[in-house]
Amino acid sequence: LFGTYHLNFTLLCTTSLTDGQTRYSIPEELKQGSVVGNIAKDLGLGLTDILDRKLRVAAEAGKQYFTVDSGKGELVVNDRIDREALCGQSASCVLPLQVVTENPLQLHRIEVEIRDINDNSPVFMTQQKALKIAETTVAGVRFPLETAHDPDVGSNSVKSYTLSKSECFSLKMKEFPGGRQAPELVHELLLTALDGGKPVKSGSMKIQVTVLDNNDNIPVFKKPLYNITVPENNMPSSVLVQVEATDADEGANGQVEYAFNDHTPTTLLSIFHLDVVNGEISLTGQLDYELNSVYELHITAKDKGVPEMEGHCRVQIIVTDINDNVPEIILTSTPSPVREDAAKGTVVALISVRDLDSGDNGKVVLKLSGSSPFILKPSFSNNYALVTSGPLDRESFSVYNVEITATDSGSPPLSSKKSIPVSISDVNDNPPVFSQPSYTVYLKENGVPGSILYSVSASDLDFGENAKVSYSILDSKVQDVSVSSYVYINSENGSIYSMHSFDYEKLKVFQILVQAKDQGSPSLSSNTTVHVFILDQNDNAPTVIYPSSAGLGSLSLQRMPRSAKAGHLVTKVTAVDADSGHNAWISYKVAEATDVRTKRPVSEQDDSSQRLLIAIKDDGEPVQSATVTVSILLEDGLHEPILDIRHKAAESGGKTGRLALYLILSLASVSVLSVVTFLILAVKCVRNNSYVEVLGGDMMSQSQSFRSCMSPMSEYSDFTLIKPSSTSDFKEVLSVLDASLPDSTWTFESQQVSTSDQI
Ligand SMILES: *[C@@H]1O[C@H](CO)[C@@H](O)[C@H](O)[C@H]1NC(C)=O
Ligand SMILES: *[C@@H]1O[C@H](CO)[C@@H](O)[C@H](O)[C@H]1NC(C)=O
Repeated sequence: LFGTYHLNFTLLCTTSLTDGQTRYSIPEELKQGSVVGNIAKDLGLGLTDILDRKLRVAAEAGKQYFTVDSGKGELVVNDRIDREALCGQSASCVLPLQVVTENPLQLHRIEVEIRDINDNSPVFMTQQKALKIAETTVAGVRFPLETAHDPDVGSNSVKSYTLSKSECFSLKMKEFPGGRQAPELVHELLLTALDGGKPVKSGSMKIQVTVLDNNDNIPVFKKPLYNITVPENNMPSSVLVQVEATDADEGANGQVEYAFNDHTPTTLLSIFHLDVVNGEISLTGQLDYELNSVYELHITAKDKGVPEMEGHCRVQIIVTDINDNVPEIILTSTPSPVREDAAKGTVVALISVRDLDSGDNGKVVLKLSGSSPFILKPSFSNNYALVTSGPLDRESFSVYNVEITATDSGSPPLSSKKSIPVSISDVNDNPPVFSQPSYTVYLKENGVPGSILYSVSASDLDFGENAKVSYSILDSKVQDVSVSSYVYINSENGSIYSMHSFDYEKLKVFQILVQAKDQGSPSLSSNTTVHVFILDQNDNAPTVIYPSSAGLGSLSLQRMPRSAKAGHLVTKVTAVDADSGHNAWISYKVAEATDVRTKRPVSEQDDSSQRLLIAIKDDGEPVQSATVTVSILLEDGLHEPILDIRHKAAESGGKTGRLALYLILSLASVSVLSVVTFLILAVKCVRNNSYVEVLGGDMMSQSQSFRSCMSPMSEYSDFTLIKPSSTSDFKEVLSVLDASLPDSTWTFESQQVSTSDQI
């Protein structure tokens, strides 16, 4: 155990890789589930990290020999580990492993050394061998024998050979260049191979010796060892080398035939062909450097003599690498979604690359194609981290397909591509946005409470809960009352409901502050204002405020001197209308009167009691009206000079003659007045207040008289301006009017009528 290697991706990756790494050593062939070591502890991780950070062995191409136990964080054996299958004859067998932890994504490199156990016996390829030896053979002549094979390494592999006891034969070891040893028989019977393991394992073969007649010269190869080099892509059927042996004997004793040694594995026989006659070795199969880079062929040359004599040679074929393997990109950890606010340098995925070729042919460079906010940072050998290199915005790009190209340095180079989907997860970085910066609503007064006043809507560019908008009304005051007692909002869809029927005469405009808030954490919000304008409806009849009615329905008598001249001011009638605009344009009309000739001096023939019914109506839709009845009592005692007697004769014929006094407010006279003047007057007239003077005689043309605040320049400037907020307080108005009247003894009867029908 040498310590722990941590990838620190936030540092520049040029920092040299430290050598310290975790290393375990186990014997091969351990049972599945055997503990290799506590990897969590050795990497400095707590027990909670094992699950939280998903401690695991990175996926490798091929078999997964180890796993991490999620309970204790132990590295355990997952599959049968056969050292011989993994590492063949090489003396050391080390499996590099990558252990991944997430949040943050880190790669730990560990190594597991697989130790050899003596689980293989030495094996002879052939169980029997016949040696043919001439009778005259002198003692000391050597005969090559087959080597036994033991896949184990070191002391567990073949260590020695023994021969069954015999007086005629002995065993010698022959040394080959490179340290290989092979037994050679010097006459004998049973050959046993022993390994050096504990307990010792052995294998043996029988040797049958036949003594024959004379053929004194053995075929001799020109070279005991032929060395050739072949590229792995060499075409089948091409000749690799020609071996040649000569025999000094004459005739059949000197005729040589070539053959592969008896113990040549069939795998080699399927790749190489030896011409029996001329000794040419050619390829019949495909070479593969990655599978086998060195072959050794044992070749025998036999003469045709009796007894036959044979010579031996070896051919060593070295296969050279060709760039025939495409680099392979392996995703060590599948990428999990990256938050759009992830800092620059956040590790998104771990990638490793593999190329089975050697040297430059196996040297791989990774590149990202296209532009994306990611870069590849190299870590230890052939491992890379895909990290963010710039800002991410899910609202612009929610998924990236990062395309990685791996290219080796062979000639010509080979390359492969892999596309890694990286999804960006949402962060609540967009507030809800209302469809308009502010809203204006026109609402008729006297609406039904509980009806939808308006619907606002806001949208949020984020995703899921972060985009789920709820609406609320922020508290504010409307005429000193909380707005929430006027309206409420459907928090889900932004529909605003009225809780009141609004009265234009009391409230003309108000604001509702609406907030839209998303469900993110933390949540974001935005505000908007809904301006509500109440529209006037003609819901108020004109109200007679002078003369005040003495009692409901009672007809009050007024006095007037019989001697009054034409143009005598009898009384004034004043009415107001709480509505606005046309709805408050008031006109007056004498609807019905008894035989009173108000346009001329009162005569002796006139009844002493006169009745006037004055109808007052507005200009709204529907028209609202009121009436007032004025009773006038003519009295003799009150003397006024009668100036014009001529009217009396002219008018005396009609008892029910009517005097119509049309009083029209001059609201529409704007065209002759400057706009400024109009506006000033309009403001003053927000509450229409008008009155009519009931005159005796024809002093005014058409016997009509009207006055309103729209004609302030009139000689009768005794009109009253009433503030909108105090219109209901008629007493105040009355006191003003009383003071302006010459005779306050007149009494009136006032009556409101809802429609114009009665006029
Ligand atoms: C909001 O929901 C209410 C009750 O479901 C519904 O009456 C109203 O029409 C909805 N408003 C909108 C704008 O969909
Ligand atoms: C919305 O209005 C509330 C209350 O006035 C205030 O606290 C909040 O900051 C406002 N929000 C925004 C986004 O302006």
